[in-house]
Amino acid sequence: MPTIGKIVIAGAGQAGGRAAEALRSAGFRGAITVIGEENHPPYERPQLSKELLATLDTPVSYLKPARDWSDVLDVTMITGAAVVACDAGRQTVATGDGRIFDYDRLLLATGTQPRRINTLGGTGARVHYLRNIEDAMQLRQSFHRQARVVIVGGGVIGLEAACAAAKHGCDVTVVESQQRLLARAFPGLVSEVVEARHRSHGVRFAFGVTVVEGTADGVRLTDGTALKADIILVGIGVDPSSAVARDLGLSADAGIEVDGFGRTAAPNVFSAGDVSLQWSKCHDRAIRVETWANAQNQAICVAGNMIGTGREYGDPPWFWSDQYDLNIQVVGDMLNADHIVRGDAGSDRFSVAAMRGGEIVGAISINAAKDMAMFRRLVARQSRLNRSDIESTAYDLRKALIIN
Ligand code: APR
Repeated sequence: MPTIGKIVIAGAGQAGGRAAEALRSAGFRGAITVIGEENHPPYERPQLSKELLATLDTPVSYLKPARDWSDVLDVTMITGAAVVACDAGRQTVATGDGRIFDYDRLLLATGTQPRRINTLGGTGARVHYLRNIEDAMQLRQSFHRQARVVIVGGGVIGLEAACAAAKHGCDVTVVESQQRLLARAFPGLVSEVVEARHRSHGVRFAFGVTVVEGTADGVRLTDGTALKADIILVGIGVDPSSAVARDLGLSADAGIEVDGFGRTAAPNVFSAGDVSLQWSKCHDRAIRVETWANAQNQAICVAGNMIGTGREYGDPPWFWSDQYDLNIQVVGDMLNADHIVRGDAGSDRFSVAAMRGGEIVGAISINAAKDMAMFRRLVARQSRLNRSDIESTAYDLRKALIIN
C-alpha cells in the first residue's frame, strides 16, 4: 500500500472529530486536517434539543478541550471554513475562503442541514431552526412564560423542543403533517404514549396539516386555521450536506453511498456519519443513519479502514430521546414488522420488539433501559425469539442472548 501522508476530514462534527481521534489511536502518524464550517471545534449535538434548551447555563459539551486537538493529537482543526469543492484527479479539496488542501485519503463527514420552509418570510413571529449551538442558544433565549410557540414537525427535534418550551411555561402547539407523532421511526402505540404525555403538559397538536405561510401574527395552516405565534420552530427533518460529493462524480442526493467499510465509489474517498448512505441489515436497505451513536461508531470504524484496518461496520441504528420523564430508546427498524409488547403498554415502562420473518429487527423501550441493552445485542445478531418470551417480563432476555 502506498504511504498515506495526509488525511483530510471534511466536517468537524461528531463523526469528523471522532474519526480524527481514532486515526491517532490506531497509530496514524501523518498529517490530519479537519475542516469544519461552524465556528466551533466538534461538540455533542444531542444536548442542543435537550439540556441546552432546558437551561441557559448548561455548558456546551465539546468532544475535547479546543487546544487538545493540536497540543495532544497534533490535528489541524480548521473552524469557520466550509469545504466547497473537491478535485478527484488532483486529490484536493478547497474551502470557501480559497484555501486548497491535498489528501491521500479524504473523509466526507459533512452531516446534514435542516429542511426549510420558504413561505414563512411574511410572519411577524421569530422563525427558528435547530441544528447548531447558536440555534439552540437563540431558541432558548426566546422562550418565556406564555410565549406562543408553534412547532412545525412532530419528530424528535420538534418534540424535545416542545418539552423544553412547555417547561418554560410557553403555550405550545405542534403542527404535524402525518396523522401521528414520530411516524418515521415509532410504532403507533408509542406515538400515543408520547402524545398523551405532551398533552398532560399542556401541549396542543394539529395533525394532518402543515403550514402554508407566515401571517402578520403567526401562521396559516393548510386547513385554513390561523395560529398566533411569537416563536416558530421548524423541525421537519434534515437533508444531507453532500453537494461537494458531486465534484467527485458521486451521486449524493440521498446521501453519499458507502460500502460496509465506509468507502465511496471515488478513489481514496470515504464517508461516515449522518451524510453517508449505508446498508442497514435490519432495514434491509440503504439508509442514512441520523444518530449520535452512528456518527461516533461508524466514523471510528471507517477511520480505521482509511489506514487499512479492514473492519466492516454493522451496528444497528440506535438513538434515544428524553421527553419529560420518558426516556425513549430505539434500535433497528420498527416499521413494516410485527410488534410484540413487553410489559404494560399503558404504563410508564414497557418495550416493543419488532419481528420480521421470525427475527428481531428492532425494539423500542420506554423507561426500560435494561431491556434495551439486551435488545440492542439481540437486534445486532438478528436473533430468533419466541413471542411468548418477549411478552413475559419474567423472562430474562439475557437467556435469549445465550441461545442465539
Ligand atoms: N409540516 C409538518 N410536519 C412535517 C412537515 C411539514 N411540512 N414535513 C415533515 N413533517 C414532520 C414529519 O412527518 C416528521 O414527523 O416532521 C417530522 C420530522 O421528524 P424527523 O424526521 O425526526 O426530523 P427532526 O425532528 O427534524 O430531526 C432531525 O435530527 O437529532 C436528529 O435524530 C434526529 O434525525 C433527526 C434529525
